[in-house]
Amino acid sequence: LKEKMRRERDTALFCLEEVDSTNRFAKEKAPECGKLMACALRQTAGRGRLGRHWVSPEGNLYVSFAYENTMPPERLAPVTLAVALAVCDTLADFDVPASIKWPNDIYIKGKKVCGILVETVCRGERIPYIVAGIGINVNQREFPAEVENRAVSLWNVTGKESDRAEIAWRLKKQMDRRMAQFMEKGFAAMREEYMQHSLLTGREVTASVPHTVCGICIGVSETGDLLLEAGGKRIPVTFGEVTGRLQ
Ligand code: BTN
Repeated sequence: LKEKMRRERDTALFCLEEVDSTNRFAKEKAPECGKLMACALRQTAGRGRLGRHWVSPEGNLYVSFAYENTMPPERLAPVTLAVALAVCDTLADFDVPASIKWPNDIYIKGKKVCGILVETVCRGERIPYIVAGIGINVNQREFPAEVENRAVSLWNVTGKESDRAEIAWRLKKQMDRRMAQFMEKGFAAMREEYMQHSLLTGREVTASVPHTVCGICIGVSETGDLLLEAGGKRIPVTFGEVTGRLQ
């Protein structure tokens, strides 16, 4: 593992050739470094949501950010939606329009281009740092058969190689902006913008946690819940994963 660290204003920067997981790394370093950004060329044990593995071959972007948290824990859940918006802002900077499948998967033309995993550093009841891990499929040309119809890369969309450092840098700017907005005003301040990117709105969706509910998605609440309408009732979905026809 080659570890290089420098600072850019208030942020400690780490560029790693290989690491198990940039999220694990960022969680370990946050208490000593504070705000930080850690990128790796590849990960050997990339983490996904819901305990899944994130396959991390060279060519894509693997980056984690640690931010000092000033939000009370009970208002922190939708931070992951703010991160999704920062990724959409970044892709738009490169003329690639993308959508968000609640809560935080980034899609292009019905296929996933980016996954986000937000984790917290806890000290007793307090959450001093939050770590936002972002994996963007950048230059991967082909995907294994079992995910081929669900995954896409920027290369697949634009037909050209993209500069990962340029994307990472733009992402940092957009993350700094969204995280400051979130810490100051909460998710409610960006709900409208999130809604403009919402892939599920108007579609039939099935949520399975805590029990199976099927309904039409009518948007997202000010606290970041997905809102379904079923049998004349409005049902908020707070956690987990939802399925629906996306293409
Ligand atoms: C998901 O969709 O399940 C979330 C995937 C998150 C992957 C990124 S890659 C960079 C960061 N480090 C990790 O170990 N995971 C996140």
